[in-house]
Amino acid sequence: MDQLVEAREAPERTTEKGWEPRIVAMVCNWCTYAGADMAGTARRVYAPSVRIVRFLCTGRIDPLFIVKAFEQGADGVVVSGCHPGDCHYVQGNLLARRRFTVFQALMDFLGLDRRRLHFAWISASEGVKWSRIVDEATAAVREAGPLRHWGRPVKGNSSAQPLLPDTDAGIAPRDPPSAEENQLITGHLQELVTNLLSDGTVSTVIGYTAGSLPQQMVPLFVNEPRDASTLGWNEHCANNLVIYLPQVLKKNRDAKIGLVTKSCDARALIPLIREGQLRREQIVLLGIPCRGMWNQGKMAAKCYSCSEEVSPFTDWTITPEGTKKGSLTSAERRQVSPDPRDREIASLGSFLPEERWDYWQRQFDRCLRCYACRAVCPLCYCATCISDKNRPQWIPTTIDGKGNMAWNVVRAMHLAGRCIGCDECARVCPAGIRLDLLNRGLVQEIERRFDFCSHVNPESSPPLTTFQPDDPDEFI
Ligand code: FES
Repeated sequence: MDQLVEAREAPERTTEKGWEPRIVAMVCNWCTYAGADMAGTARRVYAPSVRIVRFLCTGRIDPLFIVKAFEQGADGVVVSGCHPGDCHYVQGNLLARRRFTVFQALMDFLGLDRRRLHFAWISASEGVKWSRIVDEATAAVREAGPLRHWGRPVKGNSSAQPLLPDTDAGIAPRDPPSAEENQLITGHLQELVTNLLSDGTVSTVIGYTAGSLPQQMVPLFVNEPRDASTLGWNEHCANNLVIYLPQVLKKNRDAKIGLVTKSCDARALIPLIREGQLRREQIVLLGIPCRGMWNQGKMAAKCYSCSEEVSPFTDWTITPEGTKKGSLTSAERRQVSPDPRDREIASLGSFLPEERWDYWQRQFDRCLRCYACRAVCPLCYCATCISDKNRPQWIPTTIDGKGNMAWNVVRAMHLAGRCIGCDECARVCPAGIRLDLLNRGLVQEIERRFDFCSHVNPESSPPLTTFQPDDPDEFI
């Protein structure tokens, strides 16, 4: 951290040859640092632009450090450690490789110039390689120029806000359920909840009730059978109620909770079970076939491609016809339309990196740091969020480009391989930041590279806590 601060405080270097880049090299102590040392002992001449920060292992290098280096004024970053198989801690670099793969993909998605971020494996005997990598990185960063737009749109870019295609143009939404269907479902739900609370199957049911605005539905905790009549259901039950489970179960580990869920919300249970936040037997899932959530006459983008009317993990399914135990069969699953956001992601991918950068900087620029995205995310359950820590303060709390950038990038990385795509963050963002595109872009990247889907198997290891010896590393 001190070295990073030092890097920030050093004035922009200009020599008689012109501007000199400032590069932070994060290296492992056992291989690359020794390699750099060897280059020095052998009196090899290489560009004097790097400031080395030594870590015990690349496994210890969090992408947050890279974000911090850029935020503090680095024009480029080099990350380097032992070759795969040589790590002093056996697998630190293999785990790091996955993290860097995702981070590099995120930076590409945001449009950071590829010339600014370099990864390399350098052993203790490769002093020559170290000097070559430093020279190459320096030349690339020099070509890219000073990084003055970290956390800011690219100044003077005329195509400042790339136009994304209309999210739902040409894709027909489903019909919302009729008021009569909703009424029938509500009646069956109230009856089932009364029974479950009366016979002690569950101690609490978390569901929805009518809010103070027309058509609004808000979360409701029901503890007594007589209160079940206040529960309701319609196509405006947008909140993901899974967020309440870790808090409720922390207070009472033996409680059994009934949860009214849509299929997309129930997916959040899988990563929570995988991460040890709850046990499946603590939850009774009351699934309601969902035809999509609607707001102001528009179906939510996530609903177009949702194939499950009810989660396969559902304990009770409540339909207009009645209540049945278990979920729907696969034959009862529906046909889906393509997700309209995929066209937006593809469209973003076709822009030049500086246009993408500009787009995202303008998105993040609107961030108010209200942390509503964090408050509604079922997977944001840390006791103290990194954004609330101030010793050291990794994420600036001021509402400015750098702080907003750091917060949104770090949050995206935190959810990489965990996000289940409920899109609650994008729904509640008062600034309308397209967090759904950001998260979906990373979900697709992780599926493509590691064949991992966060909401399928609670027994599987999260992709960033494991590795395969032949993981892709074409960028290193
Ligand atoms: Fe060098 Fe782990 S010890 S990368």
